[in-house]
Amino acid sequence: MHIHKFEKIWLIFGVATLLVFLSVIGVSAFYLGNQPPSCLATINPEKVDTTAPFDKPGLNKVEGKEWDYELVYVASAFNYTPGEIEVPLGAKVKVLATTKDVVHGFNVAGTNINMMLEPGYISEYVTTFDKVGEYLIVCNEYCGAGHHLMSSMIKVVE
Ligand code: CUA
Repeated sequence: MHIHKFEKIWLIFGVATLLVFLSVIGVSAFYLGNQPPSCLATINPEKVDTTAPFDKPGLNKVEGKEWDYELVYVASAFNYTPGEIEVPLGAKVKVLATTKDVVHGFNVAGTNINMMLEPGYISEYVTTFDKVGEYLIVCNEYCGAGHHLMSSMIKVVE
């Protein structure tokens, strides 16, 4: 009956390993997901232009925070403000975005940034731009006739 006992131990070991493996996958899937960090804060969609930080769209240096800059976007049919921005290489940036009208997407090509902008909510994403290049922002939520025209550009420069 010794063999039986060993089989049991190995079976338990196997199941435990599987559980660890599955939870690792689950956790990474969660962190790679599009939604979790978004849509926590609210905003009056009719007062976007006068509500900080959306009264100053663009790249704003900040002090005393975990990030160096805030990159602020206002989306509306069918554009993003700012339409183009330069970001210094290596900058740790918090992207904040909201919409003044309907639901828009905010997908930065070649990065993990893929947010949905909903009226009344602020979508946020903290990231470090550590590669020089041009990053196209596109709207990936259908928002009307000009949907396919909606874009913006982040230029990461040294
Ligand atoms: Cu905005 Cu599609």
